[in-house]
Amino acid sequence: MKASIPEMIRIGTIRTPYTETAPYQPVEEDNGDFRIVIEPEFRDGLKELSRFRYLYVIYHIHRVEKEVSMVISPSWTDGARVGVFASRSPVRPNPIGISIVRIRKIENNEIHTSGLDVFDGTPVLDIKPYVKDLDVKEDANYGWIDDLADREHLFLHIKGIPHDH
Ligand SMILES: C[S@@+](CC[C@H](N)C(=O)[O-])C[C@H]1O[C@@H](n2cnc3c(N)ncnc32)[C@H](O)[C@@H]1O
Repeated sequence: MKASIPEMIRIGTIRTPYTETAPYQPVEEDNGDFRIVIEPEFRDGLKELSRFRYLYVIYHIHRVEKEVSMVISPSWTDGARVGVFASRSPVRPNPIGISIVRIRKIENNEIHTSGLDVFDGTPVLDIKPYVKDLDVKEDANYGWIDDLADREHLFLHIKGIPHDH
């Protein structure tokens, strides 16, 4: 039997310029209006948040329509086949996404951020500060991404860093 999970609620909504396509991961220097609008009843939960530079945004990837597979081929690779839990695919058993973004400013119940990789209107489930020492793992590695011949070049694309091809 599958374990049941207590119900989750929307604490806010993400506003981005993206309606049909979005970057595969957040692009720090992305142009446009990126905001997390927190529901008024949770506004006091933002106290002291502006003292942090970065934030985890956890959201419901609400417009996924594809069927979930346990083994997938990420679209940015040339046919690599990996388990869905070894990927950042939006199509997963629980459609939950996570992005780390820079806090630009917080005004009332709105957190203005650097670029986000989600569609406009994406529901927010939670936000948490990204904390130096707690969250930075100096020995993090690339897992199966190491096997891709042009890893460094692919990362320039994913991170939206301009470069000559
Ligand atoms: C690959 S996911 C990565 C999300 C997150 N950074 C993560 O690692 O969990 C980002 C992609 O999900 C899709 N996407 C974004 N927001 C979505 C939404 N609300 N519903 C369905 N798909 C969405 C877009 O195609 C975007 O390129």
